[in-house]
Amino acid sequence: MNLVSRARNAFGLDKYVCPRTRAPLRVDGDTLRAATGDVVYPVRSGIPDFLRFGAAEDNQTRAQLERLNRLALDKGWRAALHSVYGENSPMVRYVTEAARASFMDLLPLTEQSEVLEIGPGLGQFTALLAHRARSVHALEVVAGQAEFAAERCKQSGALNVHFAVGGDDCRLPYADGEFDVVVLNLVFEWCASRCLDEAEADVQNRLLAEMHRVLKRGGSVYLATKNRFALRHLIGKPDEHCHETRFGSALPRWIAQCLLRLKGHPRALGRLYSHNALKGMLRDVGFDKIDSFWAAPEMRVPTHYVPTDTASIRQARREDGFVQGELRSTRLLMPMVPAPLVKHFTPGLAFLATKHR
Ligand SMILES: C[S@@+](CC[C@H](N)C(=O)[O-])C[C@H]1O[C@@H](n2cnc3c(N)ncnc32)[C@H](O)[C@@H]1O
Repeated sequence: MNLVSRARNAFGLDKYVCPRTRAPLRVDGDTLRAATGDVVYPVRSGIPDFLRFGAAEDNQTRAQLERLNRLALDKGWRAALHSVYGENSPMVRYVTEAARASFMDLLPLTEQSEVLEIGPGLGQFTALLAHRARSVHALEVVAGQAEFAAERCKQSGALNVHFAVGGDDCRLPYADGEFDVVVLNLVFEWCASRCLDEAEADVQNRLLAEMHRVLKRGGSVYLATKNRFALRHLIGKPDEHCHETRFGSALPRWIAQCLLRLKGHPRALGRLYSHNALKGMLRDVGFDKIDSFWAAPEMRVPTHYVPTDTASIRQARREDGFVQGELRSTRLLMPMVPAPLVKHFTPGLAFLATKHR
């Protein structure tokens, strides 16, 4: 192996293709360049930038992330988080709480697994995934977050991780059949937000098809997102995706759209689906073994992942200390939902889907 290909492999640069044309890319100075045509992507500190629409974050967020990244180099990643967001802030808990990573036990990971994580945020799962796999590629739309997550991985001894910035048009800069596992945790609902000239559902469908494309045959995707018909929406709690409109995403879409316009908002912040709709979308792009889980009591910090078949739900409900809802109201109501129907009203939808063809 010559020096150039060694450098490509060290940064994981050998896996990238042009996300728009899928042309192979070669390293050319501080860029990745398509062998044909004039497509060039910058590479900064080993992180290629495939963004189509430019920076995703506003100036204030960018300045905050720059400070975070400076502090991470000076004081370490954890101290940097504490300085910028506050030691006991919800943000720090969100990006450091180990219990949030318990979904990893559902994944078919081995020491040989090649993993793709889409939307790693501040790297809350990336190093943990890397410790269980052969390598992890991580694709994040916010450059400052990718930079922080890369430094966090380095400081955590996870050297088998390769970050890229991109995904804003829901096209993936990886060749077909590269990965054993793709992780998409709490990203699907937001993923189309930059593609303002396309229908959101089309963009989300494209991401599903892309994840199917980059998986090896036999590979699996873990997709967790919020549930359109979560009990909390059905009982009229405000929905952050609809600018805090009561019932929000659970309303017929045209009614939600009218209410948003009346409030002066052009559109919802992301698009949620029902259990059956999302399962159907996964099936339509080619996934053929699709298992679903109830992340209880709340999908952001679950204590249990319960398979959504009737027997498993009944069994979980018999366990001491099994909490069925994230709010006082949903804790009261969820136990009344018949076990076969629970999967339709959980706070989130969590699917493990396998590609067999
Ligand atoms: C709610 S956070 C979830 C972070 C992490 N996966 C978790 O579960 O803690 C969503 C993350 O996905 C990123 N993101 C949103 N749309 C994306 C896209 N189309 N491609 C890649 N990353 C995306 C956001 O920048 C953000 O870091």
